[in-house]
Amino acid sequence: MAVRLLISVLIISLVSLTYASDPDPLQDFCVAVKDDEAKVFVNGKICKDPNMVSADDFLFPGPNIPGLNVPGNTSNPLGSKVTPVNVNQLPGLNTLGISLVRIDYAPYGLNPPHTHPRATEVLVVVEGTLYVGFVTSNPADPNVKNKLFTKTLKPGDVFVFPEGLIHFQFNVGKKNAVVFAGLSSQNPGVITIANAVFGSDPPINPDVLTKAFQVDANVIKYLQGQFCYSSAFAFYFAVVLKMAVRLLISVLIISLVSLTYASDPAPLQDFCVAVKDDEAKVFVNGKICKDPNMVSADDFLFPGPNMPGLNVPGNTSNPLGSKVTPVNVNQLPGLNTLGISLVRIDYAPYGLNPPHTHPRATEVLVVVEGTLYVGFVTSNPADPNVKNKLFTKTLNPGDVFVFPEGLIHFQFNVGKTNAVVFAGLSSQNPGVITIANAVFGSNPPINPDVLTKAFQVDANVIKYLQGQFWWNID
Ligand SMILES: *[C@@H]1O[C@H](CO)[C@@H](O)[C@H](O)[C@H]1NC(C)=O
Ligand SMILES: *[C@@H]1O[C@H](CO)[C@@H](O)[C@H](O)[C@H]1NC(C)=O
Repeated sequence: MAVRLLISVLIISLVSLTYASDPDPLQDFCVAVKDDEAKVFVNGKICKDPNMVSADDFLFPGPNIPGLNVPGNTSNPLGSKVTPVNVNQLPGLNTLGISLVRIDYAPYGLNPPHTHPRATEVLVVVEGTLYVGFVTSNPADPNVKNKLFTKTLKPGDVFVFPEGLIHFQFNVGKKNAVVFAGLSSQNPGVITIANAVFGSDPPINPDVLTKAFQVDANVIKYLQGQFCYSSAFAFYFAVVLKMAVRLLISVLIISLVSLTYASDPAPLQDFCVAVKDDEAKVFVNGKICKDPNMVSADDFLFPGPNMPGLNVPGNTSNPLGSKVTPVNVNQLPGLNTLGISLVRIDYAPYGLNPPHTHPRATEVLVVVEGTLYVGFVTSNPADPNVKNKLFTKTLNPGDVFVFPEGLIHFQFNVGKTNAVVFAGLSSQNPGVITIANAVFGSNPPINPDVLTKAFQVDANVIKYLQGQFWWNID
C-alpha cells in the first residue's frame, strides 16, 4: 500500500516535472558558467562560484557588444530581426524564469508564425503599427476549428501570446516598428513553423506532409524546396537525464519541495482570462477563468478603452520623483495563469524607485532613456560574520539588468534628464514590498520596541521614522 502510494505520488510529481515551467530558484542566483567551461550537463546551466559573481553577470551587453538601444538589421527576406537577451546572452538569468527581447520590423516586415515551447510572451509596442495574432490549440470538438485572435497594435499597447501557442507579428505601417517583450523562461526556445515543418534537416518524409496537409505531393515538394529563413533566435540544446532508482527517489523529494516553493504554475489550458473580481463568486489562488467562448482578442490587449497606453509617461510629481505603471493581471486579465507581467517606470531627474522587493518575481529591465544607478542586495549569508552583498551598476539606454526573485533592489536616476525603462516580471502578480513603508509605515504600526531592537538604535529614532509620511510608489 505504501509502495503503491509512493509510486502514484512519484507519477504525479513526474507529470508536474514534464509540464512544469522554469522551476523556482533554490538560492539568490545561479549565474551560468560559459558552456565551454561546463563539464556537467543539467537542466539549465550550472552555477558559477557565488564568490566569483559580480554585478557584470547581471548586465547586458558585455564589453564591445551593442545594447538593446541599437536596432536589429532587418535586411533579410522577412524584414524583421529578433535580438534576444536570454540566459545565453545574460548568464545572471539562469534559474530565474524570465528573459527579454527587442524586435525590429522594417515596413511590411514579418515575424512569421512560431511558438515558444517554454514561455508566454508579453509585448509592448514602442514604435510603429503591428498586426498581431495567435491561434488556440485544437479544440476537443473535432468539428470546431482552431480559433484566431488578432489585434492591430500601436505605440503603448501591450499584448499577450500565451505559452506554446502559434503567433506572429506583421508591420502594417509605412515606418519601422520596434517592440520589447518579456518571456516567461530563461530560455524560451523558438519553433518557426514553416522552417520546422518544411525546412528540417533531414527533411520530413514528403508522404507524411502530403497526408498531413492534404495537398498534392508536388505542393509539398515545392514547399520543401523553398529557402526558409529563420529570423528568430536559435534552437537550443536538448538535455538527457539518466535516471537510476536512487535518483528517482531524490527527484521525488526535490519535486515535493518544488511543489511547496513553486513559482506561478504552468497553465493547464491555452489561457484562463480572469473574470473581474466583482463578478467572481469563487476565490482561488489566482483568478477564476472567463468562459473561453466569451474570450476575445481584447482580453489580451492593454490598455482598455479610454485608458492611456504605455507610451504615456507616468506622473513623477511626487516626493520620490518616480512612477511605476504596471500591466499585470489586474490591468490585463489575459495574463491570468501565464506567469508574467510588464511595467513601465518613469524617473524625473534624481528620481528614485526606493528599495523594495517583488515577493513572487524576478525582474529584467531594459533602459530606454536616461542614466540609472541600480542595485540589489543578497539575502543573509550562512556565515554570520559575512555581510549581505550589494551588486550595483550604472545603466545607459540599451542596457539590460536582472533583479533576482525576492531580493531588495532599487533604481536611481543619476542623470539630468528623465529616465524610462520597461521591465518584465516573472509573475502575473509580482507584488511589491517597499521596505521603508512596510517597516515604518504599516497600519497599525509595528510595536516600536520591536523595531528599536531590530535596528539597534535609540527608541526616539524609531519614533521619528514612524512619524514620517511614507510615499507609496505603487
Ligand atoms: C544588414 O544585413 C545585410 C544583409 O546581411 C548587409 O548587407 C548589411 O551590410 C547589414 N547592414 C548593417 C548596417 O549591418
Ligand atoms: C501630476 O501629479 C501632481 C501631484 O499629484 C498634480 O498636481 C499634477 O496635476 C499631475 N500632472 C498631470 C500632468 O497629471
